[in-house]
Amino acid sequence: MIPARGAALYKGKAKSVFATDDPSLVILRFSDEATAFNGVKQAVFQDKGRINCAITAHLFDELAARGVPSHMVRQLGERDLLCHKVEIIPVEVVVRNVIAGSLARRYGLTEGEPLDEPLVELFLKSDELNDPLLTEEVAVRFDFAKRWELQCMREQALQVNDLLRAFWGELGIDLIDFKLEFGRLDGKVVLADEITPDGSRLWERGTGQRFDKDVFRRDLGDLSQTYRALHARVFGETQA
Ligand code: TMP
Ligand code: ASP
Repeated sequence: MIPARGAALYKGKAKSVFATDDPSLVILRFSDEATAFNGVKQAVFQDKGRINCAITAHLFDELAARGVPSHMVRQLGERDLLCHKVEIIPVEVVVRNVIAGSLARRYGLTEGEPLDEPLVELFLKSDELNDPLLTEEVAVRFDFAKRWELQCMREQALQVNDLLRAFWGELGIDLIDFKLEFGRLDGKVVLADEITPDGSRLWERGTGQRFDKDVFRRDLGDLSQTYRALHARVFGETQA
């Protein structure tokens, strides 16, 4: 049975959340809107919502099959995911394999230098405050998350990193870094939100060509074309 889409509960920068006729389920709708630098840059890119939805559904399925479940129940339409309703933990988890982006800027490091081991960083999920960097101590002290939850998030994030590095690696793409969000569901911490090229850095092995939202952030080319090319790599040319 397909749950009926109800009222809009929340509108984010690139997705909206809708209620369904089952109070424990929501629908995540991916839009074609893109923002960068916390909404300073905005644009619409044809096919982005559809592609991000397909990639998220595929990656959440792959992760679930390898022991890391998420809030996703299944994909409904081209740009809709049916998900368990979770309480989003306001701590974003970034995992990095190579120095890039804000890590390079913050500490004056060289972009593109590989890290010996994956680095996990925490950020407060707050548009008003521009997602400031968090220490675990601050996160626990001000109750953004419990210590056991952070531990669980860190472990899952590193497991996801191993699985995604292998996934992208097989497609000739290096996973530079990515951001995850988690939610509370029935006393457990589960992977939530999305996994897309909006929230990941994906560099083609050998050429360094960007297959992610940096193309928009840094004006490196056409984001729709970039995402279509990525979609073709994941699903095969015929569905691009
Ligand atoms: P950063 O280098 O700008 O901190 O970004 C690290 C990773 O997190 C990168 O893959 C993009 C992703 N990200 C988001 O998903 N949302 C954000 O708001 C930011 C700043 C980064
Ligand atoms: N996600 C943030 C924004 O939408 C920042 C970024 O991705 O660059 O503005």
